[in-house]
Parts: sequence; C-alpha cells; structure tokens
Amino acid sequence: MGKAVRLDKFLADAGAGTRNEVKKYIQKGKVQVNGIPAKKPEIKVSEEDEVILDGNKVSRAPEFVYYLLHKPAGYISATEDKRDRTVMELVPSDRKDIFPVGRLDKDTEGLLLITDDGALAHELLSPKKHVDKTYYAVTDGCVTKEDVQRFAEGLEIGEKNPTMPAKLEILRTRKVEEAELEQYLSGWSSEIQLTIKEGKFHQVKRMTEAVGKKVVYLKRISMGVLTLPDDLKKGECRQLTVEEEKKLKDSIGRS
Ligand code: URA
Repeated sequence: MGKAVRLDKFLADAGAGTRNEVKKYIQKGKVQVNGIPAKKPEIKVSEEDEVILDGNKVSRAPEFVYYLLHKPAGYISATEDKRDRTVMELVPSDRKDIFPVGRLDKDTEGLLLITDDGALAHELLSPKKHVDKTYYAVTDGCVTKEDVQRFAEGLEIGEKNPTMPAKLEILRTRKVEEAELEQYLSGWSSEIQLTIKEGKFHQVKRMTEAVGKKVVYLKRISMGVLTLPDDLKKGECRQLTVEEEKKLKDSIGRS
C-alpha cells in the first residue's frame, strides 16, 4: 500500500495549488475522497484512494510539475531576490525545487515556463539546441526591410561572434503622436515579431539597438512548442495541459 499523507499535502504535491489554496477547496466542498466530500485537510489518503477535485481525478504527486506563467513587468525571473518581487510569487505551488526556465528581463512580459524538471530545462536552454523563442516588440524607431535582412544575416552585438540568423517581421509602422514624443524620441514606432534561436543576455534589445532602434515594450509569445495562450491573463499561471506537456516532452525527444 502507498504511503498515507494528509489530503492537503496530497493535493498540493499533485500541483492542485498551494497548501492554503487546497485547504480552501476542501472547505468549499470541492474535494471528494472515494465518493465522499472531504471535510478536513488533515485526513489521510494514499495512492489507493480516489481523490477528486472539481470533478477531476487527482493523481499522486507527479515526478515533475510544469507551469505556464504569463509574466507581467515588474517581476524578476529568479527563485529569490533581496529587493524585488520574483515570478515565484505568481506560481500557485509549494513544490520546493521549482524554478523559471531561463530569464525574461524585469520589464519583459510573456511566456515563462516554471518547473522542477532540471533535465528538461537544460534541453530547452542549451545553446546547442537552438530552441526558437518568439517575441512581440514595440520599438522607438522605424524598423526597415534592410533591418529584416541584417537580422537574417546575424548581428554584431558586442560578443565574440555575431548572433545566429533571426527572423524579423515588421507588423506595423506609424508616426507617433505629439504627446508620445517623450517615449518615442525618433518620432516613429514599429511593431515587430522576432524569432531568435539563442538566449543571450538582453538579446532582443541588443539586436534592435544594433540596427539603431530601441525596444520600448517586449513580450515573449512562444518558446519551442509552447505558445502563450490568449486566455492566460497577465500575472496568471496554470499547469501545462496534458497535451502541452506531451508536446513539450516530444519536442526534446523524451517519450
Ligand atoms: N531579450 C531581451 O532583450 N530581453 C528579454 O527579456 C528576453 C529577450
């Protein structure tokens, strides 16, 4: 027989939420054990018990957990920081070893994967694997067809070697309003989509600077096979769906 643990621990370990959150689910009558609504977080359950939360069966603690966070600006991509809020505050999990897979700058928004699967993180971040990362950005300065060409050839950004080729698409360019001139000194702004295969420090901002423009807004919209879902609002975080998790593992050749 599997080891018996407290119901709130069982649920939290399974990724259903933090200890406090799952206690609230229990209080609200959302959890059933073997068909009977559970009333107390301290009752003991084991693998043999059928635990249901909101109509869905909860399996025992998975080996690893995978969360998708829509990172808002203002949070640091680290597990702890002395001065700033970290993205971990937005992850509804008490799992001890979870960490963000790679970094987004404090002012960057968008998709961030959080997991405790170190091997998977390594596969996604390894410079040898060239995992695509796609960003949406708004620039101060008009991005041109020549810039698209230069991005496609790779750019000097002050490293030993130029960057790898990157795919740049111009979505829209506009002359800015008088009132916006403080933010857009050039008087022009472009919206761009950019796919890079590396993850160098401030890479998108530095590549954009290398062609004489400045990023004023940056959001990651995909990483490898994962895409930021439209219904995941800024600051929200959820576990990967079964399909997303499978696709992600397939993409790194793990069955
Ligand atoms: N490139 C940047 O410049 N910043 C990020 O946060 C991510 C990629």
